[in-house]
Amino acid sequence: MSDRYQAFTKSPIGKLLVKNLGLPDPVKLDRWTEGAPLVDGTVVVGGNGRLALTESLDGLGIANTTEKADGEKYKGLVFDATGITNSSELGELAKFFTPLMRSLTNCARVVVLGSAPELLKGEKRVAQRALEGFTRSLGKEIGKGSTVQLVYVAPGAETSVDSTLAFLLSPKSAYVSGQVIRIGAKGEKKAVALKDWERPLAGKIAIVTGASRGIGEQIARVLHRDGATILGIDVPQAASELQSVMKELNGDSLTLDITHSDAPQRIAHHVKESHGGVDIVVHNAGITRDKKLANMAQDRWDSVIAVNLTAPELITRALLEAGAINKNGRVVGVASIAGIAGNVGQTNYATSKAGVIGFVDSLADELKDGITINAVAPGFIVTQMTAAVPFATREVGQRLNAMSQGGLPIDVAETIAWYANPASTAVNGNVVRVCGQMMLGA
Ligand SMILES: NC(=O)c1ccc[n+]([C@@H]2O[C@H](COP(=O)([O-])OP(=O)(O)OC[C@H]3O[C@@H](n4cnc5c(N)ncnc54)[C@H](O)[C@@H]3O)[C@@H](O)[C@H]2O)c1
Repeated sequence: MSDRYQAFTKSPIGKLLVKNLGLPDPVKLDRWTEGAPLVDGTVVVGGNGRLALTESLDGLGIANTTEKADGEKYKGLVFDATGITNSSELGELAKFFTPLMRSLTNCARVVVLGSAPELLKGEKRVAQRALEGFTRSLGKEIGKGSTVQLVYVAPGAETSVDSTLAFLLSPKSAYVSGQVIRIGAKGEKKAVALKDWERPLAGKIAIVTGASRGIGEQIARVLHRDGATILGIDVPQAASELQSVMKELNGDSLTLDITHSDAPQRIAHHVKESHGGVDIVVHNAGITRDKKLANMAQDRWDSVIAVNLTAPELITRALLEAGAINKNGRVVGVASIAGIAGNVGQTNYATSKAGVIGFVDSLADELKDGITINAVAPGFIVTQMTAAVPFATREVGQRLNAMSQGGLPIDVAETIAWYANPASTAVNGNVVRVCGQMMLGA
């Protein structure tokens, strides 16, 4: 499942063709490895608003400056745009960013922080909404494996941005770009203070469905790396793969079909009996049964909705009713870019994945005790699921994004680990695409 095109662009003839024909030139993305600093370089801080960004970065151990030095290269740019109150002040963006654009390293990070327009009125609302166009365009033009995001911080959530900055400024967000994230929009505004940023999930119990392979296996590995004890769930046919992954992670396993009528109760009973409760629930298990609607057999439709949407709903409800989700708990859905943009042959799948987004919307206002719900929407992620896609479609699918390459399961897993972080209490109701800023959809 190697990226043959990416390898070709690094060959002498490939380099020549990329240069002369303007072909996509995928950069090898930085990915975080254990023991590495969160940010390997300095971040320039700008803007004038209500956020204490320098304090946050100092607290996270991220080197930062407010002054650009001649000849220096920077790993990131963070701009507090919460002070922009009308459209003529948007010029502050160009004033800060333009002189810095040629001073960035590869895989640099840009984060703009603003105030959610829906909470504002008049010219403030206009100016803050305009930030979306700026960040999405910069994401498409910045190149070199760099990413650009917009974070809207609600009033009262100013001190809750640390876990999000740590994620967005580090290589953990390698394949996340062009996203608009809201902090403090729903539920709690104050984040729980975190002491151990090395092992933020120490002492936590995490359920991961579909944990025997692909993205689910990687989610289990990353949450375990961050300190959690994993309860991996998968179908009986995948029992031996599941057990070998869980043995390696010192975790627990449960083999069942999540669509079975007694699955929600069995899971709730198991976590209560064996672990006293659960802190993180990741609904990763998913299937595709692609056919154009004209040829769709009812069982293909029903099975996709049952696994991808109804099971996460019923399992979450059973866990909540049993009081099995601990305070400051996390529920994470796995949607898909198909659920946002739609896709030929995937009416069933896209319905189920758009439903996952609805599931996040409906529960985000309802959950109590610091429990949050968010979703990831992966784009083209290289796994067994996408290996089944025909070669030509796969090649095109991998290039149609600002990074000109497919993502890896670790990219989805790191995004989920950010949601799972105990300091992400104010990150609630978000759907973040892990798609390298794919050209499809919003
Ligand atoms: N790979 C991609 O590019 C991509 C893109 C968007 C979304 N996703 C989503 O990410 C998730 C993981 O995808 P993947 O590529 O790792 O898929 P995968 O097929 O490699 O793994 C899915 C896992 O879910 C398990 N599973 C399926 N039905 C189950 C059931 N009824 N009960 C229990 N377990 C069940 C499978 O046994 C398997 O281990 C899915 O929800 C998928 O829709 C993947």
